[in-house]
Amino acid sequence: MTVEKKGTSNADKMDWDKLGFAYIKTDLRYVSVWKNGKWDEGKLTEDNMLTISEGSTSLHYGQQCFEGLKAYRTKDGKIQLFRPDQNAKRMAASCKRLLMPEISEEKFIDACVQVVKANADYVPPYGTGATLYLRPYVIGVGDNLGVRTAPEFIFSVFCSPVGAYFKGGLAPVNFCITDYDRAAPQGTGAAKVGGNYAASLHPHEEAVKRGFADCIYLDPATHTKIEEVGAANFFGITKDGKFVTPKSDSILPSITKYSLMAVAKEYLGLQVEERDVFIKQLDEFSEAGACGTAAVITPIGGIEYNGKLHVFHSETEVGPVTRKLYETLCGIQFGEVKAPAGWIVEAK
Ligand code: PLP
Ligand code: COI
Repeated sequence: MTVEKKGTSNADKMDWDKLGFAYIKTDLRYVSVWKNGKWDEGKLTEDNMLTISEGSTSLHYGQQCFEGLKAYRTKDGKIQLFRPDQNAKRMAASCKRLLMPEISEEKFIDACVQVVKANADYVPPYGTGATLYLRPYVIGVGDNLGVRTAPEFIFSVFCSPVGAYFKGGLAPVNFCITDYDRAAPQGTGAAKVGGNYAASLHPHEEAVKRGFADCIYLDPATHTKIEEVGAANFFGITKDGKFVTPKSDSILPSITKYSLMAVAKEYLGLQVEERDVFIKQLDEFSEAGACGTAAVITPIGGIEYNGKLHVFHSETEVGPVTRKLYETLCGIQFGEVKAPAGWIVEAK
């Protein structure tokens, strides 16, 4: 394995308790190139700049996809990844949807582990709540002009230590319903591709300007059912204690959401339903939350729809079921609670 390393590390300058969700340049990132029909071996490099053709399909036609997963420091100092096989599978599905060469699960996990080990000093200490966020991505590169798949591709994984995406800890935030769509019924909503996020920038800014943490999208066909937040899935806890989350082909299949469904059922003994969630029936829920790798579990205080704020448990306090879900999920991720088989991969 080639490692190009010349500079000095920033790791000793970290203020772990003050981390938000922002880019911090770490020492090494993994880069692999697809050329002449195959991926090369890949290498770690200190260079965080890419030089690509001005004709790259990723620049003009959005031919790119990405992933997000985290490395966690356990109490005994080990570093572990949470379900990287699921990110590998989802990235392969995104690549397929955008006619890009897939990365094998083995190559994907190996790249992530290499990046974590090479930047181990950036994995925040246990107890700070902070983590090392990994951002794998694939982009179409090489000289090109017409709308077609790229002649070459880059697969890279970089990392950045992060704190909370929304508010810190388990603090509820409010969301509003937007009239915009982030995806189409048979579009790319289920793939983790940049175009979905570009489409969400304007609605997000409108929501923030109005004092909300973000907006929630409704289903693009009928605008009657909750889809998801711009960067997280939605769940609700019904008044009779069921864990409910929307089922839709145009939302991102969140690994956190599927993990929570298992946690709710297997650890908390709740009934779990993946089904339509009608915006006019928010009354069925006593608690609600947004979930995702970056968002972890962010309790939803209220949702504004048609000029009215529907408050769930409270705008300032987290509900009891959401708290239990959070504690169990984080317990698994940080190694305090026994994980289901195959969920944890140690970076060693
Ligand atoms: N939905 C969207 C649009 C996202 O960007 C994310 C973040 O990855 C999620 C949901 C949550 O997915 P996951 O739990 O796999 O991180
Ligand atoms: C994630 O949670 O990993 C995401 O990708 C959300 C956002 C930062 C785009």
